[in-house]
Amino acid sequence: VIDRAIRPTSLDDYIGQPKVREQMEIFIHAAKTRGEALDHTLIFGPPGLGKTTLANIIAREMEGELKSTSGPVLEKAGDLAALLTNLEAGDVLFIDEIHRLSPVIEEILYPAMEDYQLDIVIGEGPGARSIKLDLPPFTLVAATTRAGLLTSPLRDRFGIVQRLEFYNVADLSYIVSRSARLLNVPMEDEGALEIARRARGTPRIANRLLRRVRDYAEVKGNGVITGSVANAALNMLDVDQHGFDNLDRRYLLALMEKFNGGPAGVEALAAAIAEDSGTLEDVVEPYLIQQGMVMRTARGRIATPHAYLRFGLTMPESLKTLT
Ligand code: ADE
Repeated sequence: VIDRAIRPTSLDDYIGQPKVREQMEIFIHAAKTRGEALDHTLIFGPPGLGKTTLANIIAREMEGELKSTSGPVLEKAGDLAALLTNLEAGDVLFIDEIHRLSPVIEEILYPAMEDYQLDIVIGEGPGARSIKLDLPPFTLVAATTRAGLLTSPLRDRFGIVQRLEFYNVADLSYIVSRSARLLNVPMEDEGALEIARRARGTPRIANRLLRRVRDYAEVKGNGVITGSVANAALNMLDVDQHGFDNLDRRYLLALMEKFNGGPAGVEALAAAIAEDSGTLEDVVEPYLIQQGMVMRTARGRIATPHAYLRFGLTMPESLKTLT
């Protein structure tokens, strides 16, 4: 309920991601003017940057309905067939985690995307029949954290591909201020900046920190989120000045202290800190790479001079030639 209250519903309210916004405005306007469905759209990027939000906005801007599902939920051909046959012209079918689609479902998706045709086999054995149905013109919007895991025939069927980037502090500050206004939370600019600086470039984290800082401000203060209230609350929450969370710190410290700064393979790193390697690749590394703390090389992950500086550790001589 609270999420719905602060989620933007139009491209005009969508903050940051200027390239994505500019392109989508043009593509949506053009499709609407021609009276066609928008081309199928793939959105990829780390979690929490607004992929689902963007799918909602696309449906709203195209004046269609959004029907949502996700890759792992679609088990049987009939699951997807049921969704497709319930679509109306101009609707948006949103498939989250599209990289987790089974090959059988993927095969059904191809003709549906390309020719608006549903092509399935019903029944089994001698009584089995193949049926073809025309589908209304619709838009598939798919989201993934791992574009690299999509098969190329699937990737090639998206006419529009958008990559979401981490947000800068100014944009996050704007997002948090907007959320505070919608939640009726009094907040000073310094409070918004403090939250924005420590949100890991991610609106979902910024909005979550906002709620926790609000709790703190209401209990420990007079309810107003000032810079110093936000600072105190975030220190209590163990969020550091750079927005690194516990997992980021464990990753970096393991890389520097257990692997001498690398190169280290992601599987070895994952084992060292007892985390899932997929989480490291999808969630942890994109931010640390963007922040210039880690480099991905053919031989493995390497900690950069920035990382050593940040933790006050001395960089091994052997590593200096690699970075
Ligand atoms: N919430 C999540 N992403 C957002 C964005 N880009 N703009 C505004 N609010 C958001």
